[in-house]
Amino acid sequence: MEFGIFVWWLLLLAALFPLSSTYGCLREEREALLQLKASLNSSYDSLTSWNSSHEESNCCDWEYVMCDNTTGHVIELHLYHVRDVSISDYEIEVWYLNASIFLPFQELKYLDLSGNGIFGWVPNEGFERLSRLTKLEVLRLGINHINESFLSSLGQILSLKTLYLRNNLLERPMNFPISELRRLKNLQELYLDSSNIDKSFLRKVGAMTSLNVLTIRGCGLNGSLPIVQGLCELMNLQELDLSQNNFEELLPSCLANMTELQIFDISSNRFNASIDLSPLPSFKSLEYLDLSHNYFNPITFSSFSNLSKLEVIFSDRNKLVDETLSQKWNLGFQLKVFSCSSCLSTKFSRRITRFLHYQFDLQVIILPHNNFSGQFPTWLLENNTSNNNLLGMLPRWMGDMTSLTDIVVTKNQLEALIPVELCNLKSLSFLDLSHNNLNGSIPFCFNWSEIQHVHLNKNRLTGPITSAFKSCSNLVTLNLRDNYLTGNIPDWIGNLSSFSILLLEANYLQGKIPFQICLLGNLSLLDLSHNSFFGQIPQCLSNITFEPTYSKSFISSMSFMSSYSQISDILSRIFHSTMEVYLESDVLPMVDVLQEVEFTTKNIILSYKGDILNYMSGIDLSCNKLEGEIPAELGNLSSIHALNLSFNNLIGSIPTQFSNLHQIESLDLSHNNLDDTIPPQLIELNSLAVFNVAHNNFWGTTPERKAQFGTFDESSYEGNPLLCGPIA
Ligand SMILES: *[C@@H]1O[C@H](CO)[C@@H](O)[C@H](O)[C@H]1NC(C)=O
Ligand SMILES: *[C@@H]1O[C@H](CO)[C@@H](O)[C@H](O)[C@H]1NC(C)=O
Ligand SMILES: *[C@@H]1O[C@H](CO)[C@@H](O)[C@H](O)[C@H]1NC(C)=O
Ligand SMILES: *[C@@H]1O[C@H](CO)[C@@H](O)[C@H](O)[C@H]1NC(C)=O
Ligand SMILES: *[C@@H]1O[C@H](CO)[C@@H](O)[C@H](O)[C@H]1NC(C)=O
Ligand SMILES: *[C@@H]1O[C@H](CO)[C@@H](O)[C@H](O)[C@H]1NC(C)=O
Ligand SMILES: *[C@@H]1O[C@H](CO)[C@@H](O)[C@H](O)[C@H]1NC(C)=O
Ligand SMILES: *[C@@H]1O[C@H](CO)[C@@H](O)[C@H](O)[C@H]1NC(C)=O
Ligand SMILES: *[C@@H]1O[C@H](CO)[C@@H](O)[C@H](O)[C@H]1NC(C)=O
Ligand SMILES: *[C@@H]1O[C@H](CO)[C@@H](O)[C@H](O)[C@H]1NC(C)=O
Ligand SMILES: *[C@@H]1O[C@H](CO)[C@@H](O)[C@H](O)[C@H]1NC(C)=O
Ligand SMILES: *[C@@H]1O[C@H](CO)[C@@H](O)[C@H](O)[C@H]1NC(C)=O
Repeated sequence: MEFGIFVWWLLLLAALFPLSSTYGCLREEREALLQLKASLNSSYDSLTSWNSSHEESNCCDWEYVMCDNTTGHVIELHLYHVRDVSISDYEIEVWYLNASIFLPFQELKYLDLSGNGIFGWVPNEGFERLSRLTKLEVLRLGINHINESFLSSLGQILSLKTLYLRNNLLERPMNFPISELRRLKNLQELYLDSSNIDKSFLRKVGAMTSLNVLTIRGCGLNGSLPIVQGLCELMNLQELDLSQNNFEELLPSCLANMTELQIFDISSNRFNASIDLSPLPSFKSLEYLDLSHNYFNPITFSSFSNLSKLEVIFSDRNKLVDETLSQKWNLGFQLKVFSCSSCLSTKFSRRITRFLHYQFDLQVIILPHNNFSGQFPTWLLENNTSNNNLLGMLPRWMGDMTSLTDIVVTKNQLEALIPVELCNLKSLSFLDLSHNNLNGSIPFCFNWSEIQHVHLNKNRLTGPITSAFKSCSNLVTLNLRDNYLTGNIPDWIGNLSSFSILLLEANYLQGKIPFQICLLGNLSLLDLSHNSFFGQIPQCLSNITFEPTYSKSFISSMSFMSSYSQISDILSRIFHSTMEVYLESDVLPMVDVLQEVEFTTKNIILSYKGDILNYMSGIDLSCNKLEGEIPAELGNLSSIHALNLSFNNLIGSIPTQFSNLHQIESLDLSHNNLDDTIPPQLIELNSLAVFNVAHNNFWGTTPERKAQFGTFDESSYEGNPLLCGPIA
């Protein structure tokens, strides 16, 4: 009896505490992984942790592999871009996959094979084999060469719930094999963005009745949407993305049956009919709406008044008005994100502003290019404090807990002072008031701890920088270009170690360049040009690597997006899908407000948007009163892309160490008092596209006309009377 109880207890314990993590991975799965690695047919080994020589190596610890903790079975394989195919030119190394290799993974749920140059399969080992993996739910095949034949075989993987086929750019449009794929009765999400599909797809897709997400962004489709069958039959859709095609005219009224729709993106098309006549007001579940970049007749907000769940509206470049609801501005929704770039004509701007008076939960507000004049609308800040939810019982000055995270009002005509009310926005992360007529000094109260990007350039700001940003410990970008600021660069700058982009060009700043700048180890762009800085160039600048690190700036350029993701689930979904598009296509999401920074290189002003900043790094100290010699240490900046020291009073020679600037594309030392000979070693600079030493006192001969130096003409050397050579 007692023994029976004991056994019972043992059994219970065994059930409660299965031999959990003591399992490694299963032997046959480990072998399959090694076979897969061997089959990659790739010259570079990205799977170094998949180590065959080490018998005990637990494959659950290998990179890109995820196992179930209790059974030890492989459940996820994240094999995104593990082969050596250049994304831009992915036709080079083709891969014929042997799908049978995956058969041992009986518990596999998630398989990502994107970006691997898959062209087909080895004979008799096609994708239909994967149909034996009855747990497989998510399959990602973006950036490959998936054509109809592939898809037909996918039609047998009946367990699939999610299928990603983005960026399969085939020569001719793919005749989507609906008849085979309609068998996927569990398929809920289908992502086809940037793939070359045939327009007939839209008429046939209705057969895939289980779909609730369909995205066909940027598929090169055009003409009007089919009016009756097809698309409209997908009545369970929760997300529909038709953006970046060339669809025209009107949204068919049959879409009105999509009452579950939460995310609707039709941006960047040629829709032009009236939105009031569209099915939009029927989308009762709508949370996210992007109408930007179309040709809609003026959009009246009253059309949306019943969409009580609406949180996000992007309506850039549409004319927005509300003329019918002259009494009722309080529409049935409270937005979290409102973006309306170039969307207001002067005539209507007052009205649109009235609508915003009744929005109290805004977190992201984007109103560039709208010709707003007068003072900054401080009511916008005050209205969107969470205190309003307390029926205004707390005094305004306690409005600390504001919801606003991103404010973009660039390229308007705002005047007067920067409002101190901004200082109450403790959650602010992105502020862009650039290209306005703001004056006065920068308020001292700017001490947000969350702020990452501040753009106040091209205004009429005066006074010193003093302590304005002293405690903004997360500041990544500070752009104060083109103002009338005076005084020195404050010493506290050295405490803001997160700085990556510091742009102070074209002000009246003076004094020495403080050594504290050298403490900014993450700096990638430093522009102090067109000021009155004097003294020597700090040699410690070489303590900074000026490395345009990919991940770092990726995060900063996406910070605008990441602040969405805090908003709600739906937004985080958007964020993730944007990330995916980003990762799979290597292009930026089309968001107007991704921070834009101009940096002079190659003699032209290129506008670097978002992630492109990652590839850019440089120092511009031109047009100041700097003196002394060029520190030889600057030759250690082997990652720098641009260096401009022109129009100063520098003397001495070009350090021979400059031949170590392996990444440099633009080197401008013109208009100084430099002398000596030009180091012949400079011809080792293989990336150099712009080289200028004009108007100095160089003597001797010009560098050999070899490599990049074969491309420079006399304008690079003029104004050096003692310099000779074939082109001087
Ligand atoms: C594999 O593991 C063994 C033993 O741990 C180690 O000596 C070897 O360097 C590893 N090989 C690779 C390619 O990592
Ligand atoms: C598996 O283990 C990881 C790390 O120990 C843990 O984060 C995760 O929640 C576990 N998953 C399950 C399903 O137990
Ligand atoms: C391996 O790559 C070469 C070209 O790089 C290609 O000709 C060959 O078919 C590929 N083999 C497999 C099995 O994918
Ligand atoms: C494909 O993989 C399976 C399982 O590993 C193997 O038995 C078969 O020989 C492979 N086929 C080809 C053509 O390489
Ligand atoms: C699809 O690709 C496979 C492998 O490259 C090829 O054999 C087949 O002919 C292609 N099918 C179509 C319809 O283009
Ligand atoms: C749609 O695009 C196709 C292919 O580019 C073109 O031939 C056709 O004329 C376009 N149709 C319309 C209505 O623009
Ligand atoms: C909506 O669906 C119903 C039932 O399927 C159908 O009768 C009706 O025509 C559809 N409405 C539109 C506008 O397509
Ligand atoms: C929409 O554009 C089409 C041609 O692209 C034109 O025929 C039609 O008149 C336009 N409709 C409106 C309402 O502007
Ligand atoms: C909003 O709903 C009310 C009540 O159901 C209805 O009377 C009104 O027409 C609707 N407005 C719009 C713009 O659909
Ligand atoms: C929002 O701002 C407008 C304009 O100043 C004001 O009339 C309205 O009372 C404010 N709403 C709240 C709740 O403070
Ligand atoms: C902008 O506003 C000014 C007056 O405030 C007006 O003269 C100008 O025409 C407006 N520009 C546009 C493009 O609406
Ligand atoms: C720069 O680096 C040198 C050598 O590592 C160090 O001695 C010096 O203190 C650093 N300067 C600054 C300003 O950090």
